[in-house]
Amino acid sequence: MISLAGDVGGLRLRNPLMLAAGILGTTGASLARAGREGAGAVVTKSVGLTPRDGHPGPTVVRIGVGLINAMGLPNPSYLAFQQEIDLAREGGVPVVASVFGSDPSEFSQVASGLVADAFELNLSCPHAERYGAEIGCQPANVEEVTRAVKRAVGAPVWVKLTPNVSDIVGLGLAAQQGGADAVVAINTLKAMAIDVESGYPILGNRFGGLSGPAIKPVAIRCVYELSAALDIPVIGVGGVGCWQDAAEMILAGASAVQIGTALSGGYQVFRDIAAGLSKYLVRKDMTLEEMRGLARRRS
Ligand code: FUM
Repeated sequence: MISLAGDVGGLRLRNPLMLAAGILGTTGASLARAGREGAGAVVTKSVGLTPRDGHPGPTVVRIGVGLINAMGLPNPSYLAFQQEIDLAREGGVPVVASVFGSDPSEFSQVASGLVADAFELNLSCPHAERYGAEIGCQPANVEEVTRAVKRAVGAPVWVKLTPNVSDIVGLGLAAQQGGADAVVAINTLKAMAIDVESGYPILGNRFGGLSGPAIKPVAIRCVYELSAALDIPVIGVGGVGCWQDAAEMILAGASAVQIGTALSGGYQVFRDIAAGLSKYLVRKDMTLEEMRGLARRRS
């Protein structure tokens, strides 16, 4: 069996597949299960300074091409979350804490109050006032937040970027300049759905973030552009549901791939994708390293 192991953004991974933030990441038990079921690392639900209930419901709507969510960053605060991270470690793979804040000092306080294998900075949630993409659409903010968290913690820092801008590469370069160990691309695309009978927006928050198969081509393009421009690893996320999708991300330049919406089909997705990738590498007589960014070298 060909090895899928490698070093990504300051972590040693047994395979390049991770549970994406926000999906089954609220409890240590579900995070640990993802590790036991084949993920190479797991990312928690985003946590912040104080408890939040999130947006009023409905918070999720399934549409033909994916899901639109407007969870609104519900979380129990970082003060009540360390126990979940500790439990998640029982899955036997690195645990990445996703954190959010409204400014560099909030981000730093939350991250430095947690012990995790790495931190993923949520500078990209498209539907939370004062947080996420509201800060993360400006390169200067991305750089400042990244630098502050890097100073505050001893663990690797990854920055999750928003695609809801005209120049995601500018954000990636800002993260790199701030000292990020990797960027994660992409968060959801700002979206909405309307009920045609009532005429009302379906989500309680009206606007949410689109994930799933519809956004994969956008994610692939972002990974391709970012990995061409940055010296730090790019972790791809967006619409990956099968090994071919993961392969496309890696060919575009991703060093690892996160899986989110596809988890609605069960944890088996990690083993299925790992098996498909291994067979592909054997068939192509290539290593993962040789595969990474091949599409760029062929363009
Ligand atoms: O919890 C949330 O609402 C997270 C959203 C996001 O980062 O997209």
